Amino acid sequence: MKIDVFISYEHKSKSIADSIVSSFEQDKIRCWYAPRDVIGDYATSIVEAIENASVFILILSGESSNSPHVLNEVEMAYKKNIEQSQTITIVPFKVSNDELSRAMEYYIKRIHWIDATTSGMEAAITDLKKKVKRLLGIREEPDGSDGHERTRNTYFTSEDSKEIRRLRIQDRTVLSFDGTIYSDGAKNFSKVTALDLGSNRGDNFFNRFSPLPNLEKAIGIEYDKGAVEYANKKFGADKFCFYCYDVEADDLAERLEQICDEQGIEKFNMVNISMLLLHLKKPFALLKTIRRFMEPDGLLIIRDIDDGFNVAFPDKEKLFEQTIRYCAESEFSGYRTSGREIYTMLKDTGFKDIKLENLGLSTVGMDYDEREALFDTYFSFIAGDLQSMAQKYPDSEHYKTAHKWIQDHYDRLESEFMRDDFFFVLGFMLFSARK
Ligand SMILES: C[S@@+](CC[C@H](N)C(=O)[O-])C[C@H]1O[C@@H](n2cnc3c(N)ncnc32)[C@H](O)[C@@H]1O
Repeated sequence: MKIDVFISYEHKSKSIADSIVSSFEQDKIRCWYAPRDVIGDYATSIVEAIENASVFILILSGESSNSPHVLNEVEMAYKKNIEQSQTITIVPFKVSNDELSRAMEYYIKRIHWIDATTSGMEAAITDLKKKVKRLLGIREEPDGSDGHERTRNTYFTSEDSKEIRRLRIQDRTVLSFDGTIYSDGAKNFSKVTALDLGSNRGDNFFNRFSPLPNLEKAIGIEYDKGAVEYANKKFGADKFCFYCYDVEADDLAERLEQICDEQGIEKFNMVNISMLLLHLKKPFALLKTIRRFMEPDGLLIIRDIDDGFNVAFPDKEKLFEQTIRYCAESEFSGYRTSGREIYTMLKDTGFKDIKLENLGLSTVGMDYDEREALFDTYFSFIAGDLQSMAQKYPDSEHYKTAHKWIQDHYDRLESEFMRDDFFFVLGFMLFSARK
């Protein structure tokens, strides 16, 4: 079992160790400290814990610097750094001004410590946690809310054949989730003029809009050039046309005006935004602009994700819980609690008749192939994303650990998922709203 932080202390500092553990574990940093986490033989348990930890916190005092147990633990961490390729970062946390033993000085003389003797214990533990989070590659939560920050995510490139395959499978898997929303919606209009944002290679848009008998024009916007070229080659004809453009660009409105002029479109009456908002920094601004380009009573359809609505049962070993957490930590998988913000954004941007058309895509009723496709859709990209994070942040032990963990557990995840009685719900959300 991988451990984030090993805490080494002398028993007089036990209450400080307790406070650190309690503060860290509130933020889901996995701590190991004796005696709480000792299983079986004491010495073996300590050795294994240090072997599996990424950060070694040393509670530094006169007593600990003279304690043979603590010195042993420091020596193990020190040796792990020097002799093995895996590294553990030693972070001394100084809790007294006592003189240090020469043995301790030898180990820590070049290491920066956090000084709890000047700033007060609570503030020092906060600093310590910040430092440890940086080392583990965990981003600070901006406002105490549950997730990470919404950022602009430019993860897609048309060279990414794995992602192209994943999107194709996802598209088929969610057809039933979308139900009859497109065909029913189109009945309200004599002619449909459709706009799709983040259209990728056009499959999702084409599959949903080409069957509409009253489709007149369908415009897709996507900022990956290769994907746009592909979509125009495959689907572009008199009805479908794809443009390469960034929907978060400041001059989106001007660009949309140009497109409407070019295509002889007054306004759009159906707008589709599928799995895009989670990748955007400013979805509110986009919705505001798009609304201006919609006919009165025009229909907006949004599909997005919220991992807070994922359910995996039974998850006895918490493999799914851990995987979903790792997925949320990757910058490439988008803002994983995007779904819950959509209703409020639609209200605030003036949309009416807002409906949550569907919530949660479950394995209930799925046959073997469908279940496998859903597994692929959700889980296949996570290992690659974590590998990319490890490459982007080479100093972060956390992403290396996460990547290895996923690789080690992927087969188990899949076999659990494919069990007939395993229940999984993926937190997809489908909203509709009118201008
Ligand atoms: C997860 S894919 C969804 C594709 C498709 N809508 C679907 O549901 O299958 C997101 C797509 O949005 C594109 N995208 C992301 N940010 C964008 C932006 N700012 N402007 C235009 N396209 C963007 C990505 O390149 C990618 O093709």
